[in-house]
Amino acid sequence: MSNAARILNPALRSKIMSADEAAALIPPGANVGMSGFTGAGYPKAVPLALANRIDAAHARGEPFRVGVWTGASTAPELDGALARVNGFAMRLPYQSDPICRKQINSGEMEYTDIHLSHVAQYAWFGFLGKLDVAVVEVAAVLEDGRLVPANSIGNNKTWLDQADKIVLEVNSWVNLALDGMHDIYYGTRRPPDRRPVPINNPGDRIGDRYYNVDLSKVVAVVETDSHDRNTPFSPPDANSKRIAGHILEFLDHEVKRGRLPRSMLPLQSGVGNVANAVLGGLIEGPFEDLTAYTEVLQDGMLDLIKAGKMRFASATAVSLSPETALAFNRDAAELKKNVILRPQEISNHPEVIRRLGIIAMNGLIEADIYGNVNSTHIAGTAIMNGIGGSGDFARNAFLSIFMTPSTAKNGSISCIVPMVTHVDHTEHDVHVIVTEQGLADLRGLSPKQRARVIIENCAHPDYKPALREYFSRALEQSPGRHTPHLLDQAFRFLPEWKAQQAQSAAE
Ligand code: COA
Repeated sequence: MSNAARILNPALRSKIMSADEAAALIPPGANVGMSGFTGAGYPKAVPLALANRIDAAHARGEPFRVGVWTGASTAPELDGALARVNGFAMRLPYQSDPICRKQINSGEMEYTDIHLSHVAQYAWFGFLGKLDVAVVEVAAVLEDGRLVPANSIGNNKTWLDQADKIVLEVNSWVNLALDGMHDIYYGTRRPPDRRPVPINNPGDRIGDRYYNVDLSKVVAVVETDSHDRNTPFSPPDANSKRIAGHILEFLDHEVKRGRLPRSMLPLQSGVGNVANAVLGGLIEGPFEDLTAYTEVLQDGMLDLIKAGKMRFASATAVSLSPETALAFNRDAAELKKNVILRPQEISNHPEVIRRLGIIAMNGLIEADIYGNVNSTHIAGTAIMNGIGGSGDFARNAFLSIFMTPSTAKNGSISCIVPMVTHVDHTEHDVHVIVTEQGLADLRGLSPKQRARVIIENCAHPDYKPALREYFSRALEQSPGRHTPHLLDQAFRFLPEWKAQQAQSAAE
């Protein structure tokens, strides 16, 4: 179907213009709320046109930067393009773009990393300042002006509600058979008038099929025809398969102990290859009738749905490899029986996560011997991506599982350390840590008990002796013996121990 046939409202039809003309309506210094969540549903044309405009302004010596709020990470056409021209005054709430990352870590760009469930309400509460413009991708505009969402919902409802001006991109690549997959909840109130979010099962529908929009705010409609740009997954490596195996064995054990039903509880699975490998492992596993209440729908979940193992998946976006994204678009009519896309304040809502009893599985950069987890920072000071939804899920989950290979950078760094260099998830939010070496079940354990089980079950054999040595010295020398630490040595201990080992080997 052509774009024109997708823009049925006459008032909005009269606003059709080029991406350059639409970008010209975004002034320097504006806060811009853009659609987009893990490579799905981001605007494809206006951010590029805006980047060109910013570049031209900079070439003339004129300052031009904007604040950009999104759902989560987007794609090179948005984050990469704007970062390349130094166009971000600030960015929130999550990114994974290499150019953005470089700019943030060099100190040129401000980045505010926020729990994904908090972003919309921070905007309603006025915590983030004023939203000037929304730039949102949709699949179509109905006769009455309501908007058919595309492949991600993220914070779009909030951007459309809060912005003074709205720019729409209508993408004719999105299969219109997707219409009906979305559930846009308009019932959230500000405190003290809040009411329970009435979701009792992952498949419950509680909202509208479409975005409602004040048509007088729409200043531009841009037609596009471009596919979402998703990141390919690498096939699961040996470590991912081992991690997946440990998790599946643990879940089976929980079923046998009567702590989980055979159909489990709704799954949440983080981003990345390890998470996808766990989902792949479930296809072979003994569990049936699975559900997911998660943030992104990955390849592995679609495979589970197609294999008849998963009954229903609720998310805010799809995050699929390029081939699976094409298949999702093609099979949208069939898939909407099993898939629902919601605003991220609902997909990640702490109240719903607690009620449904989610099994949360997320990646980490480093975990310490007491179970504190760093998901975001390399060596304590440089951002990798951001906390994303991991905090929304970890704190409120029935089971909060964190997984990682035991070492990074070809074995030169241990991901199990004496003390994490940055804390995203405290020891109180982490039930299970898994590496390819094994699984540490931390539930109900004291700090010292946790340290023993994390070192023995999860650390790589190359680093176990050092971690044991640190822990036993801390037990002897720490001023407090509840969470024993050598505070003057915690961050130096492993590198110095490694250097000594190397020196002894050389002598
Ligand atoms: N020290 C230095 N680098 C490390 C490291 C460590 N302790 N641990 C991991 N890394 C590096 C890896 O080497 C890799 O680098 P590369 O991209 O240069 O190859 C990178 O971090 C990613 O690690 P990888 O092992 O490939 O894991 P992943 O793809 O599963 O990602 C996180 C792990 C933590 C970065 C990722 O899960 C994340 O961003 N999490 C936070 C958000 C989140 O959890 N979202 C889901 C909620 S729904």
